[in-house]
Amino acid sequence: MLSWDEQVKPALQPAMPASSGADAFAAPAAASASPRRMNAADKRIINGQTDVNQLVPFKYKWAWEKYLATCANHWMPQEVNMNRDIALWKDPNGLTEDERRIVKRNLGFFVTADSLAANNIVLGTYRHITAPECRQFLLRQAFEEAIHTHAYQYIVESLGLDESEIFNAYNEVKSIRDKDEFLIPFISAIMDPEFKTGTLENDQTLLKSLIVFACLMEGLFFYVGFTQILALGRQNKMTGAAEQYQYILRDESMHCNFGIDLINTVKLENPQLWTAEFKAEIKALFLKAVELEYRYAEDTMPRGVLGMNASMFKGYLRYIANRRATQIGLEALFPNEENPFPWMSEMIDLKKERNFFETRVIEYQSGGALSWD
Ligand SMILES: [Fe+2]
Ligand SMILES: [Fe+2]
Repeated sequence: MLSWDEQVKPALQPAMPASSGADAFAAPAAASASPRRMNAADKRIINGQTDVNQLVPFKYKWAWEKYLATCANHWMPQEVNMNRDIALWKDPNGLTEDERRIVKRNLGFFVTADSLAANNIVLGTYRHITAPECRQFLLRQAFEEAIHTHAYQYIVESLGLDESEIFNAYNEVKSIRDKDEFLIPFISAIMDPEFKTGTLENDQTLLKSLIVFACLMEGLFFYVGFTQILALGRQNKMTGAAEQYQYILRDESMHCNFGIDLINTVKLENPQLWTAEFKAEIKALFLKAVELEYRYAEDTMPRGVLGMNASMFKGYLRYIANRRATQIGLEALFPNEENPFPWMSEMIDLKKERNFFETRVIEYQSGGALSWD
């Protein structure tokens, strides 16, 4: 019978040399010599040479703290009571046609968006990040993306919507398809099994993907949808769905902040990546993303509804884009834009009221962490 060494260890050994930054099993030193103890100062976010299996000593404490914060925010979709939403949806006079369109378009985007997010992390980003405390956050984030997909599925099922219509929207609704087609090349590039960091070009490809994902997908493409459902909730409509979106918004806001810290640390450790040409390319991507999200706003609300209209979103998207750009060290793209929806900041904060929509049915075991006072 084969020993563990003969049978299992080869499967865990990397095919590539241990010097590759993307190597999950990089040996800290030659097998014959006594390995040198890991020094936190040697850790790097990308192309690191330290053992990725050794979480401590910490170097990137911000990543570990964000990991702890996301765990403290744990929630599950089925804890939220959907009975009022179901009654309202079934009542022919419960919602206007425009409001129903918003709900369906919203779910049409989100039911697949968070699967894209999860796949991007698990099959792409994760293996290129060589700091274990950042990997720890990404593992938690991946699970949260699964919870979000679960939440959207739970809403679709609760309301008895046409599942094939909703789950195919990302292929069939142009304003949704265009957003996904913008994102997919950046996900595919880093998911390619042949893709490895370690050259200027590839490190820039990874950094671009991190920026598109954190700043433009999680940090911009989610915001029209979140605002619309939360606006319904503020009018006492679809309060179960709104409460779930509020938890998701809180999670996504943490993902976006983690992503921005990650991007800024990669920049700091690899200043050669941040060229004028690269910045110009990023700026063009921001402008394109704002345009695509605005088209989505127009498609989801062809007329004014809930005290909002598409043109208000133009200002809101510009305001958010400015914020994301300055967070990663770019100039504001649209100077002097104001936030037309200041109440959204309170929704992200979640510290104002214990249970804004009052639909939570179970105190989850980590519910103590959900006391927002
Ligand atoms: Fe998500
Ligand atoms: Fe996310």
